[in-house]
Amino acid sequence: MKTLGEARLTERARIVMEKPFGTDLPSARRLNAGVQEVFDDDQVFRIDHFLGKEAAQNILAFRFANGLFEPIWNREHIDHIQIDVPETLSVGARAAFYEQTGAFRDMVVTHLFQILAFVAMEPPTALEPRAINEEKNKVFRSMQPIDTSQVVRGQYEGYCWGDGVAPDSDTETFVALRCEIDNWRWAGVPFYLRTGKQMAEGARIVSIAFREPPKSMFPPGSGVGAQGPDHLTFDLADASKLSLSFYGKQPGPGMKLDELSLQFALHETDNADGVLEAYERLIHDAMSGDQTLFTNAEGIERLWEVSAPLLEGPPPVELYRVGSWGPSAIADLITPRTWRLPFERGWRQHR
Ligand code: BG6
Repeated sequence: MKTLGEARLTERARIVMEKPFGTDLPSARRLNAGVQEVFDDDQVFRIDHFLGKEAAQNILAFRFANGLFEPIWNREHIDHIQIDVPETLSVGARAAFYEQTGAFRDMVVTHLFQILAFVAMEPPTALEPRAINEEKNKVFRSMQPIDTSQVVRGQYEGYCWGDGVAPDSDTETFVALRCEIDNWRWAGVPFYLRTGKQMAEGARIVSIAFREPPKSMFPPGSGVGAQGPDHLTFDLADASKLSLSFYGKQPGPGMKLDELSLQFALHETDNADGVLEAYERLIHDAMSGDQTLFTNAEGIERLWEVSAPLLEGPPPVELYRVGSWGPSAIADLITPRTWRLPFERGWRQHR
């Protein structure tokens, strides 16, 4: 960084940075200080490619361009939130990087926490970088330090046999955790985050579970609530989808209830061709100097700060089978609730 400054390559320049932005709070501070020594903040573009995903930005549009959901987007009406990003791929040729990194640093402290901020933030005053980052950073400031008793670290069977992996490696290829945001909107609402390699399916979902109503008017056996709470689910895939599940009446005599859903698929719209790949979008924005979808030093440092208990005292890794949903302890982590994935019913088939 210094050399760039000395060579005067920083003048009228922009710098695009890709993670990792440090590996803990002290290293992130050192990195940011080094960058800030030679660059002004508006020259620096820190990429978190999840924020470049069309579907992630649609969370903002959905929340703040509609009057329907924002009034119920809080602890009064939401029971819990899941951000779940299982992956089927293995560490592959990236073992050397991954051994030092692990699933928490690779995915959670970056992508999953950034998505969490879009889901949890207050309405920003404007769609511009300062306002958006201020609201995101307020979420991060309200995040409670990670409680290690609420973390499951996993490692897929056979990881240690891979090239470049220590035979007794303690690196996690899977992590699931519960975190909390202690502010007026979210106090008491758990956020469950999960991600891992070599899992049963690849998916990227955000699922909002609404509180259940009193079911007293329905006769026993009617099925009300039998398939869990009603949910709003965002699928962050490139072909992004959205689903709102609810209970409705089964046709016929009596009152039997079934879980039904309203579904939206971006690729069914006339604008589907306009979708930009996440990096395409972010590099385009960096070239035009728009920092709205980029992360900043303060937010990144706060995320390392809340992560410190886990980084300093990680629970031991538990093995999980390749092709599974993670170690068995993930059920206890979320109980009495359950993980949305695998879905009980698939998405509606689209054209
Ligand atoms: C990267 C991680 O940042 O994100 C990878 O380093 C991970 O380990 C990838 O697989 C996931 O991104 P996407 O866009 O494929 O979901």
